[in-house]
Amino acid sequence: MQNVQEYLSKNKDRFIEELIELLKIPSISADSAFSQDVIDTAEAIKSALERAGCDTVEICETNGYPIVYGEKIINSNLPTVLVYGHYDVQPPDPMDLWNSPPFEPEIRKTETHPEGAIYARGACDDKGQMYMHVKAFEFMVKTQQLPCNVKFMIEGEEEVGSKNLGEFVALNKEKLANDVILISDTGMIANDIPSITTGLRGLSYVEVEVTGPNRDLHSGLYGGAVANPNNILAKMIASLHDENNHITIPGFYDKVEELSKEERNQMAEAPFSLERYKKALDINDVHGEEGYLTNERNAIRPTLDVNGMWGGYTGEGAKTVIPSKAFAKISMRLVPNQDWQEITELFQKHFESIAPKSVTVKVKPHHGGQGYVTPIDTVAYQAASKAYETTFGKTPIPQRSGGSIPIVSLFERELESKTILMGFGLDSDAIHSPNEHFGVWNYLKGIETIPYFYQYFTEMSSS
Ligand code: BES
Ligand code: MN
Ligand code: MN
Repeated sequence: MQNVQEYLSKNKDRFIEELIELLKIPSISADSAFSQDVIDTAEAIKSALERAGCDTVEICETNGYPIVYGEKIINSNLPTVLVYGHYDVQPPDPMDLWNSPPFEPEIRKTETHPEGAIYARGACDDKGQMYMHVKAFEFMVKTQQLPCNVKFMIEGEEEVGSKNLGEFVALNKEKLANDVILISDTGMIANDIPSITTGLRGLSYVEVEVTGPNRDLHSGLYGGAVANPNNILAKMIASLHDENNHITIPGFYDKVEELSKEERNQMAEAPFSLERYKKALDINDVHGEEGYLTNERNAIRPTLDVNGMWGGYTGEGAKTVIPSKAFAKISMRLVPNQDWQEITELFQKHFESIAPKSVTVKVKPHHGGQGYVTPIDTVAYQAASKAYETTFGKTPIPQRSGGSIPIVSLFERELESKTILMGFGLDSDAIHSPNEHFGVWNYLKGIETIPYFYQYFTEMSSS
């Protein structure tokens, strides 16, 4: 790849400007009040892909938000890279914890990002990382160095479970045919410790509702004599972990892949400081499953977490009441071989079975997906590894992530191709949190590294 540095230094201000414009649109897929903004973002991506050099770009309607599809086919005998990303973002709340408004991007310098970071919802997850691919593609097209065919599939429902993407993929197998799927929607260890994500956890997300009396009651007149759904729900949830922080749902661990000693030793070699980890989160101690290290707990072990819990009076001041209902949203992160639908059923059966007679419970499954692990002895991984070596001067470390991109396992099944996860974000970038940001250095490094992947993948595929 010639002149990537030169092209970057000439165009980096514009690259940052363009991303900032994209970040101004509040494409919150979870909140229907923003539906027009989500649709506008799809249009913006379409025109960005056209300007970058795609031959055809279409907005593909679904039952939900549209999928933007673009391609440039230069020679059907050459390999094809399919780039996946998402243009929707998480809701920004809690709003009052943002130091600058989530949809008015601002560049600020920090300790981890001395060259500045762009603060905005979606900066890292995933508009910034997705847009690196659009700009890397622009560079290859404009300098006549595109070595292979490219397809882009950018969706608008990732943050709400990619409900309509599965059908789109199943119906468009030929159109989406590819030799490798390339995604930047994960992270790396540190700016001087590049890594490639080799695993994602699966997910089962459920909501539970506990109902006691048919109306809210005076907690003095009825308290002590009638089940309080808040109390009951708290107790039921607490019972889902034992004293060693193992999950108590019968059968939950039956299919969990156990890693060998060697694999675990290898994982433990990845640089990690528990002290720094605790300090970054302002915690005195970590917490998790007995017998596993922090880096194992959040990558190779399944979990169960309450994401939200409510019921009764939560307004200002005090109101004495026994609520009629209590609710919780619960996510379970899954590891290879656990089937998300099976786990959802196990949860439902168990949760219903532990409810006392004084209440009724309902379990409502939301969404889920399978985990993913990818081998490192593939052409695609080797090409990615060499690309990082070229631009970081270091061999990247393969690392499993705790996050989920449920659609990746579906891609493998439907399109029969492997996915390479080249993430350039950092754990400290605060994705899904207030003050999400993406380092300017990371953004530009991604744009610099991606073209080498294309080059090496094409070279290595033909040899
Ligand atoms: N990009 C994230 C997933 C991610 C982040 C994986 C960092 C690895 C490292 C993605 O947008 C996401 O947030 N996924 C959701 C699941 C989805 C079904 C809502 C998640 O992991 O909670
Ligand atoms: Mn994402
Ligand atoms: Mn996300």
